[in-house]
Amino acid sequence: MSNITFSMIKPDAVGAGNSGAILKMIEEAGFKIIAMKKLRLSRERAGQFYEVHKERPFYGELCEYMSSGPIIAFVVEKSNAVEDFRTLIGATNPQEAAEGTIRKLFATDISANAIHGSDSDENANIEANFFFSQLERV
Ligand code: RTP
Ligand code: MG
Repeated sequence: MSNITFSMIKPDAVGAGNSGAILKMIEEAGFKIIAMKKLRLSRERAGQFYEVHKERPFYGELCEYMSSGPIIAFVVEKSNAVEDFRTLIGATNPQEAAEGTIRKLFATDISANAIHGSDSDENANIEANFFFSQLERV
């Protein structure tokens, strides 16, 4: 069972003023925020973050999009964090996302899909370290 996962509220949701509503859902689902910051990724830094997708056809569009405006990067703690967070955010394509999920409620399309969630414990740690140098349980 994992206990942390990494997330970003993506530029579409930050720009639409949905950060507060999304964070409220995350807290109400039992996740505790342990680190958070707002920033804008450069094109290069977005490319580094999504390096695993660099051979995929949507990589260029994804990096452009993720550097198009501010994001909110954060780390949350909960038992079974990675899997439970992915359930809360819903499918990558919001048209396929279950009712009540964050992407169903706030995402507009498969690129502008409101939020990121790590897909494994290993990636949660790598991604949290990409943005935060030190995690403290306060
Ligand atoms: P994320 O990493 O952002 O949490 O999303 P995910 O696991 O649900 O999806 P993943 O396969 O890791 O893809 C990363 C992001 O790339 C964009 N994408 N676009 N146009 C397309 O077909 C396409 N497929 C993926 C999405 O923004 C997705 O969240
Ligand atoms: Mg992913």
